[in-house]
Amino acid sequence: MSDPARVDDPAAIAAADPHGARDVLAGFPAQCRAGSLIDAARLPAVKRPRVIVIAGMGGSAAAADLVAACAAERVEVPVVVHRGYGLPSVAWDDTLVVAVSYSGDTVEVLSAVDAARTRRLPVLVVSAGGTLGELAVKRRLAWARVPGGLMPRMALGYLFFPIARALRALDIDVVAADDVAEALGVLEGMAQALGVERPTADNEAKRLAVAIADRWPAVYGGPVTGPVAYRWKTDMEENAKTFALAGALPEMNHNTIEAWRAPLARNLHLVLLRDAGETPEIRRRFEILSDLVSDVAGGVSVCQSRGRSVLARLLSLAYLGQWTSYYLALLHGVDPWSVPRLDEIKRRLSGG
Ligand code: F6R
Repeated sequence: MSDPARVDDPAAIAAADPHGARDVLAGFPAQCRAGSLIDAARLPAVKRPRVIVIAGMGGSAAAADLVAACAAERVEVPVVVHRGYGLPSVAWDDTLVVAVSYSGDTVEVLSAVDAARTRRLPVLVVSAGGTLGELAVKRRLAWARVPGGLMPRMALGYLFFPIARALRALDIDVVAADDVAEALGVLEGMAQALGVERPTADNEAKRLAVAIADRWPAVYGGPVTGPVAYRWKTDMEENAKTFALAGALPEMNHNTIEAWRAPLARNLHLVLLRDAGETPEIRRRFEILSDLVSDVAGGVSVCQSRGRSVLARLLSLAYLGQWTSYYLALLHGVDPWSVPRLDEIKRRLSGG
């Protein structure tokens, strides 16, 4: 078992986090604020699109999920998140393609831009540079150019907010300006409460990581917070280098619930992402789930979203997940920044 005292020991934290991921996480609210002011150059004067397809992978796709979740609550234009090569067949006439890749070198996203060119679709690029940045310049594509130097999954604020801002400029208001202001305020309040200086007794993310310890987290959200549960899973995998499960209610009540049995479930730590916007039906489902699973699970933790708007509620849970996976990395004694296996796949694919 990992030593829980490690997350409160400054020397141990500095040794386990040589790239300073803690500073990037502490700066997340400022990153979001800066991201909310980044304009896209050469934004196309397109008429209102029939559909928006956002192509991205991994940490960049998490920004796309957030756009889709906000849009689902507010706008009638469907937002399709595309994780893969090329473009889906829905991306035809009157489609706006958003190509989001923090590094700008993700081959799947580059192939989506090529497909958009073949189909003569307008493209908005969101990237710190890379090949995608070069393409944006060469082909005069709209480009929200964001600051580089981060790990893509830690650049959520630089990826989400410029997409939302560009869509607003195209008259597709996926988030209200007031909601952006509210979300930034909520995140600023959380930064202090979750940072490394705040001891475990008074720090929700440290407490959660200590509670999860060597078990695998199984994170479930509701209909709105489901995409954030998936984001928790990927943060656990990439930061803490552990397996994690994710799902959403009500769907998991129709399948995964059967797998929650002793003795296997003892290896899992159930994390429930609860939300003030839950309907009574979903609230009841969470209660029944807790009741059925608490005795067989290795542990159970409940996290509550903060804020009023969907954006604040989703971002507050995502931020809590980032910090929790960070502390879990420290407990596991792994570097929360580097992703050597992911890099190795990219290197081999490029023939390096
Ligand atoms: C690494 C990370 C990955 C990347 C993914 C795609 O920090 O988060 O999930 O996001 O490999 O790369 P980008 O985001 O550069 O297109």
